[in-house]
Amino acid sequence: MSDYEKTLDIIFGRWKSQILYAGVKLGIFDCVTSVPKNATYIAKELKLDFALTYRLLRALASMGLLKQELHDFSITTQGELLRKDHPQTLRGIILLEEGPEHYAIWKHLPDMILDGKQDAFIREYDQKIFEYADRNPQYAEVFNQAMNSYSRIQTALVSEALDGYDFSNIHHLCDIGGGQGHLLSNLLSKYPHLKGSILELESVTKNKELLWTSKMGVDDRCTYVIGDMFNEVPPADAYIMKMILHDWSDDECVKILSNIYRSSPNEGKVFIVEHLIPVPEIPHFSKFFDIHMMCIASGRERTIDEYATLLERAGWKHANTFHPRSGLIGVIEGKK
Ligand SMILES: C[S@@+](CC[C@H](N)C(=O)[O-])C[C@H]1O[C@@H](n2cnc3c(N)ncnc32)[C@H](O)[C@@H]1O
Repeated sequence: MSDYEKTLDIIFGRWKSQILYAGVKLGIFDCVTSVPKNATYIAKELKLDFALTYRLLRALASMGLLKQELHDFSITTQGELLRKDHPQTLRGIILLEEGPEHYAIWKHLPDMILDGKQDAFIREYDQKIFEYADRNPQYAEVFNQAMNSYSRIQTALVSEALDGYDFSNIHHLCDIGGGQGHLLSNLLSKYPHLKGSILELESVTKNKELLWTSKMGVDDRCTYVIGDMFNEVPPADAYIMKMILHDWSDDECVKILSNIYRSSPNEGKVFIVEHLIPVPEIPHFSKFFDIHMMCIASGRERTIDEYATLLERAGWKHANTFHPRSGLIGVIEGKK
C-alpha cells in the first residue's frame, strides 16, 4: 500500500469497525452459516429491512468476514470468530469497544490532551466507569462479556508465559479484580494442587451461571470474595492481577499493591499481567490501548521499568518478567 492508501485506511478505520459492530449487534454472524443463504432469508430470519440488510452484508463481505455470491452469503473462517459459540469468540470485544458508551467517550480525546485531564467517562457520564457499570446493568453485561472475550486470548498467553514457573510453593492464589473467573479457573485446572479466591465487586459475580469456576468444574477450590481492592484484599500466598493496574493512576496502583503487600506472607508474590510498552522505536498494540485507557479511566499502559517503580513504591521487588511468544502481553513478578 502507498502512504496515501495507508493513511486513507486509517481515516476510514472506524467505518469498518462500525459496520462490524452493526453486523454483530444484529446477529448476522449467528445467522449466516457455511452454506450460502439468500440475503432475503437472512433479513427475514433476523426481522430486518431487506434492502438495507443486503447493503450491510455486502460491506461485511467486502471485509472478508462473509463470502458473497450474487445475493447469497456464507460465513468465512474470519467471520466465524464473531459467532457467539466460537471458543475464541471476539463478539464481546466489538460489542463493548464500538458500542454506544465507548463510541461516545473517544470524541473527548483532543480536549483531554488540551486540558491535561484524562477520563472521558467522567466528561461524558459524570461518573467513573465502574460506577457507571454498577448503575447500568446492560452496559455491565456487555463489559463482562468483553472481559471474557479478551480473556480467551490473554489466559492462554499467561499460561504460556508462566509455563516453566514453579508453582509448587504456592497453595493459594488470589485473582484481584478477577472478573467472572476465566483466568483463575484455567490456572486451577492446570495446577490441581492450587486453591484460589477472586476479589470482585458484587455486581460482576452475582449471576452464578456466568462464573467460569462452575463452568470449568473448579468450584470446590475457589471462592469469590466481594470487596474493594482499595480497602483490603484477602490473604493468599500469591496474587495475580490481569488488566487491573492499567485502569488506575500511579498513586492508585501503589495503594492496591500496598494492600496486597499487607495481606501477603513473607514469601509473598504478585503477578501483574498487562500490555507492556516496548521501546519507543517499536510499534505496539499497547500504545493504542494506552490511549483507550486515557479515554476510559485514570489509568495508562506502562513499560516494565514503570511497573518496577510501582512495585518498589509499595514495598515489593521486581523479580522477573515473563513473555509469551506473541509479545502482546507480559507477566511481571514482584516478590516481597
Ligand atoms: C478491566 S477489568 C479486568 C477483569 C479481569 N481481570 C480480566 O482480565 O478479564 C477490571 C475488573 O476490576 C474490577 N474492579 C473494579 N474496581 C474494583 C475494586 N475497587 N475492587 C475489586 N475489583 C474491582 C471490575 O469489576 C472488573 O471486573
